[in-house]
Amino acid sequence: MIEPLDPMAFKKIVFFTGAGMSAESGVHTFRGAGGIWSQYRWQEYACQQAFERDPQKVLDFHELRRKEALRCQPHAGHRVITDLQQRHSAVFVITQNIDGMHQRAGNKQVIELHGSLWRVRCRIHGVRLDMAETYTHRRCPDCGQWLRPDIVWFEDMLDEEEVQAAQYELGTCDLFISIGTSAVVWPAAGYPLIARNNGALCIEINPEPSENCELYHRTIRGKAGEVLPRLFAAAL
Ligand code: APR
Repeated sequence: MIEPLDPMAFKKIVFFTGAGMSAESGVHTFRGAGGIWSQYRWQEYACQQAFERDPQKVLDFHELRRKEALRCQPHAGHRVITDLQQRHSAVFVITQNIDGMHQRAGNKQVIELHGSLWRVRCRIHGVRLDMAETYTHRRCPDCGQWLRPDIVWFEDMLDEEEVQAAQYELGTCDLFISIGTSAVVWPAAGYPLIARNNGALCIEINPEPSENCELYHRTIRGKAGEVLPRLFAAAL
């Protein structure tokens, strides 16, 4: 039994999402059974050193992620967020996901903490969009440098602007809903505490207990695509 929420009772709602939000769309999670990091060593595919050692191998891996994402579609949980955003002026998404699924579902005001599969970056000429299934260019057309996926890899710093934007929304929301993250990666793992210390009601949606599940006022053990429509059933 899921007690429904009235979104209009809250001034600002933040959805904080991890790989579990995309799981019912068919995108692999990173950890747990079948997780990406149980098949691939991140040291070979998801860090700057790996890219410098073998850019083609790292780009091939990310092209696979692109193909996988394009085969997948947003689910009912993503659509709940879109519907809420049409009714409520302050609904934000902070995501660790790089697959762009929120945006494909029509979600707005999405802060991408870990970057995006759909952007590449040249050290000299900066970031550009590249939405194709396979990279349009592997080297910068202007200077010939390898184009790096614009993703926050292991050992990278987070983008300061995204972090600041996330901190602001966390510190000013009164409803914080975390969905599908194992909460092992910082600083994201500390986000429920920031929201809670600022007075937000904190809810976790995850079929399994996460690392920091004790920080939540309510934990709902279930899948994003099933729980979200029921949680907001009264409003939508
Ligand atoms: N609904 C909700 N949660 C789910 C679902 C589902 N249908 N299916 C799985 N989950 C949960 C799992 O129980 C797990 O707790 O999603 C979580 C996925 O955890 P991770 O794979 O560790 O993903 P995430 O927390 O997003 O990883 C954080 O780590 O490797 C890096 O940069 C990568 O952004 C990623 C970051």
